[in-house]
Amino acid sequence: MKKIIIWLISIIITLLLIVYWLNPKEIYQLNNKTTQFIDYQSAPEGTHSLKASDCGLCHAEIYQEWQTSLHSKAFVDPFFTAYHKKDKGDPTCLVCHTPLANQSPLLISLSSAHSQSLKSRENPNYDPELQKEGVNCAGCHVRKGIVYGPYKARVMSAPHPVAFDQRFLDKTLCKQCHEVPSKDFSLMKEGICSTGRESNAGIWAARGFICQDCHMPATERPLMTGFPSRAGRKHLWPGGYSTQQLQKVFSFKAQKINDKIKLTITNSGAGHKAPTGDTDRFITLDFIWQDKQGKQTILETIKFKRQVIWQPIMFVFSDNRLGPGKSTSITVKAPESQGKLLVNAVYHVMTDTSLQRLKEKYQLKNGHSVHRQFITNQEIRINQ
Ligand code: HEC
Ligand code: HEC
Ligand code: HEC
Ligand code: HEC
Ligand code: HEC
Repeated sequence: MKKIIIWLISIIITLLLIVYWLNPKEIYQLNNKTTQFIDYQSAPEGTHSLKASDCGLCHAEIYQEWQTSLHSKAFVDPFFTAYHKKDKGDPTCLVCHTPLANQSPLLISLSSAHSQSLKSRENPNYDPELQKEGVNCAGCHVRKGIVYGPYKARVMSAPHPVAFDQRFLDKTLCKQCHEVPSKDFSLMKEGICSTGRESNAGIWAARGFICQDCHMPATERPLMTGFPSRAGRKHLWPGGYSTQQLQKVFSFKAQKINDKIKLTITNSGAGHKAPTGDTDRFITLDFIWQDKQGKQTILETIKFKRQVIWQPIMFVFSDNRLGPGKSTSITVKAPESQGKLLVNAVYHVMTDTSLQRLKEKYQLKNGHSVHRQFITNQEIRINQ
């Protein structure tokens, strides 16, 4: 008997060690992609500098749009600043939040080909002004003195060198940062941030939609005052902070079956799971019955969230977020009173507890509101 117990305990310990070995606590595997900034860039001939405001001297509208986007705040965003402090200033965060080597005080690399530890050295070409710009124009457009863009035809009369790059017309450019590669043998089937991969499935991918179709609205206008109109895109990137963008996500159906109502919720507008990206985020839906007197009762609340266990090993505990085009149904008891069925929806950047912790422990200041109601008392017609 004693022997069997000792055997069992050793087997369990061995299994735990194997799992631990396959799945260390790092959020993602360190490799060339996750540790390398885009090489140092200099200003292309005909431009003043790499600063967005200097590109904006000529491309005024695009500059104004970019300024309203989260890309322009990727370094100064108070939530980023607080979380970066929490993660002890981890320099790998900056590879996506300030992608150019010019933007980082430290340059990093792996200490050896198969190692998971970092080597860092001071960057002699660090430009703090550029760092504040986060994901700026040059981060996406400038390489080796050339401004790359989406136009194949050589019709530009730009004051700077231009060239075509296919990455502007597909998902590759976005996936550089909106997809963290998952680890080969980990218990995480998808990487933590897997927007790129999520978007490969479902109705929108089948129709040929790419990120730009929903996040950079198409427009026709001159690239600079006095130049001909060209087909292009607004540099707005609305996401979880845009009520208008959020309103596109869900559609609802209700069907009365005997004394029950079957509610169907579909992700009919997001090209990926909703919400995607950051694991703190979640969406709650309240289904409400409003009787003839206007009295409201909550029939059911649904929360779409991915629950990740971080310690001692990292794995996805649950994930009920709807993929693109996917539906889920719930059945509730039909109320006896006459009335109508309403829905409210709120997008949560994080819980109040997380917000409080950021304020107390990591000096979060001026963080914007973390709860955004994007559907208020929308009626759902009940089919009999
Ligand atoms: C002095 C004015 C000026 C400045 C500064 C300037 N541009 Fe341009 N840019 C132009 C003009 C003019 C065109 C071409 C317009 C046309 O022919 O329709 C152009 C074209 C472009 C294109 C299209 C390229 C293609 O072929 O697809 C991109 C992208 C671009 N600029 C980005 C930038 C970026 C990024 C910066 C800052 C690093 C910048 N520009 C700075 C005036 C400027
Ligand atoms: C996150 C990456 C990203 C950033 C940052 C970015 N752009 Fe672009 N830009 C794109 C993409 C993608 C397109 C292609 C849109 C299309 O299909 O026409 C584009 C297109 C353009 C064009 C061609 C005209 C058009 O609208 O398509 C110009 C000019 C341009 N960008 C200038 C800028 C300037 C100036 C900035 C900074 C203020 C900037 N971009 C920041 C990704 C970016
Ligand atoms: C160099 C890295 C990088 C590239 C390339 C990039 N992004 Fe981003 N993007 C970010 C970061 C970092 C943020 C978050 C900024 C913050 O608030 O800290 C972001 C934010 C966003 C948001 C807003 C998210 C929200 O919560 O509302 C959208 C939408 C978005 N990006 C779409 C795109 C699309 C579409 C492309 C391709 C055309 C693209 N991004 C290319 C790094 C990148
Ligand atoms: C069919 C339209 C569509 C396509 C295609 C699409 N998105 Fe979205 N995206 C949305 C909508 C709608 C939202 C807001 C709802 C949501 O997911 O929370 C959103 C939200 C986001 C957010 C904010 C995080 C969040 O979920 O709130 C990011 C980041 C983002 N998208 C990036 C991308 C990237 C990168 C791609 C391409 C790989 C892409 N999107 C493709 C429609 C789309
Ligand atoms: C692979 C690229 C990448 C890396 C590395 C990365 N981020 Fe991000 N981060 C993003 C993108 C893209 C977003 C946009 C929103 C989303 O996808 O959820 C984002 C959003 C965020 C946000 C939410 C901002 C807001 O206003 O809601 C915080 C906070 C953040 N990142 C912190 C960090 C920290 C801290 C690290 C390092 C431990 C880090 N990021 C590393 C790409 C990255």
